[in-house]
Amino acid sequence: MPTASRPPAPPVAPGRLPLIGHALALWRRPLEFLDSLTAYDPIVATHLGPKPSYVLTGPDLVHRVLVTEAANYAKGRSFDKLRPYLGNGLATSEGAFHLRQRRLVQPAFHHQQIAHYVDTMARLAAERADSWRPGQVVDVTRQMLELSLAIVTSTLFSTSLDASAAAEIRHAMPVVLHGMYTRVLDPTNLWHRLPTPGNRRLADAHDRLRRAIDHLIHADRADRADRASGRPDLLSMLLQARDADSGEAMTDRQLHDELITLLVAGTETAAGGLAWLFHELGRHPHLDRRLHQELHDHAVLPLTADQLPRLGHTRRVVDEALRMRNPGGITIRRAITDVELGGYRFREGTEFIFSALVLHRNPRHFPHPLRFDPDRWLPDRPPAPRGAFVPFGAGHHLCIGESFARTEMLTVAATVASRWRLTPAPGARVRGVMTSTNHPDNLLMTVEPRPAPD
Ligand code: HEM
Repeated sequence: MPTASRPPAPPVAPGRLPLIGHALALWRRPLEFLDSLTAYDPIVATHLGPKPSYVLTGPDLVHRVLVTEAANYAKGRSFDKLRPYLGNGLATSEGAFHLRQRRLVQPAFHHQQIAHYVDTMARLAAERADSWRPGQVVDVTRQMLELSLAIVTSTLFSTSLDASAAAEIRHAMPVVLHGMYTRVLDPTNLWHRLPTPGNRRLADAHDRLRRAIDHLIHADRADRADRASGRPDLLSMLLQARDADSGEAMTDRQLHDELITLLVAGTETAAGGLAWLFHELGRHPHLDRRLHQELHDHAVLPLTADQLPRLGHTRRVVDEALRMRNPGGITIRRAITDVELGGYRFREGTEFIFSALVLHRNPRHFPHPLRFDPDRWLPDRPPAPRGAFVPFGAGHHLCIGESFARTEMLTVAATVASRWRLTPAPGARVRGVMTSTNHPDNLLMTVEPRPAPD
């Protein structure tokens, strides 16, 4: 039953076309389309397939769906389409199995463990920054994608990653990421079955990725004894993980699914966040100068984990990039029972969408939402209400890589910015692109040596 003050159904997003609804808008101009939804609070209907899906724009509703009433919801249909690629890894599994896996994987993301990864992150960022020359124009999104992939693979597989396996993974990953997204968006579910060149490339890349990961698992199991005394990487921690009740280790199949999930979930997201961060610093020279001053005053290269807490402004720049330019994609949940949200009733099977980008640009919670203002995160400012700032989701599917990603963004931003100032290349028109993540396209920036701070 609708409440007395509400019409019987939520408003419908503008621009709905006969038959295809909003699918074209989401496909062609996803960022603009999502931005247009911030005007509807707390819920708005979109038509992407035969039935409406409801975008939750109110933080309170998001919190209910993801946290307090999460038992009424499961992951949506799009996750079924990801299963051929991600198997039954954390991102696609549910219920007791998901909980068990989550407990097994969690120690690899413990903050002490992440502190160990900082050395690798700082080294790889420094190598990348050192490869640039003064005056060079770089495609920052591409650079960050390569760097982020190198960071995830090196922290995941550091001890056993030989050059050819690394190359296989680095070549195959972008093809798999792109192909997965196209498949999720395909309303016909037929396109991916056609023998098109794109589908053949995807099948080939997926096959190579699978084989490279299996090779690593077997190599790693074989020489584990040699490494028992060394610092554990993520793969060796997953190999050692034991279920608290049964004492069982993960099977190779399960390990495979978790590794591919971590690679897919942890690469483009962090890269997109970093690319947007450099874009914003390039547009705001005073924030860039403050960041450099802070690094000059408080950081000694190469960065180590104990230095990161001193970098308050840099951390706020990361938070502001995660807010205004949230690199995550959209998240979908399906009601598994009849539910009530925002005064409306919905039948079992209804799908709900939430986009951190929409929530983060709500002027009610973030005044002047399109202003890039890291100071809004100063400790004396009022905090955003619960559910309003959710770059990493919430509840039992909260991003397991949250601290990893924040640490990576902070370490890379600090390492690169202490060497170079990145300024927008003349004439380059940057465009936001939303595939499975939100990232800038054509982000061409000129690399300039840093003058010493005043
Ligand atoms: C800025 C970077 C990142 C953003 C914005 C981000 C965002 C998210 C979000 C919103 C979810 C929840 C999805 C849902 O509820 O359906 C999620 C889940 C997940 N993320 Fe991240 N992520 C980032 C980086 C990473 C990294 C670096 C890793 C791993 C190395 C990672 C691994 C995962 C995994 C495994 C899940 C599934 C967790 C579960 O369902 O239990 N993410 N991420």
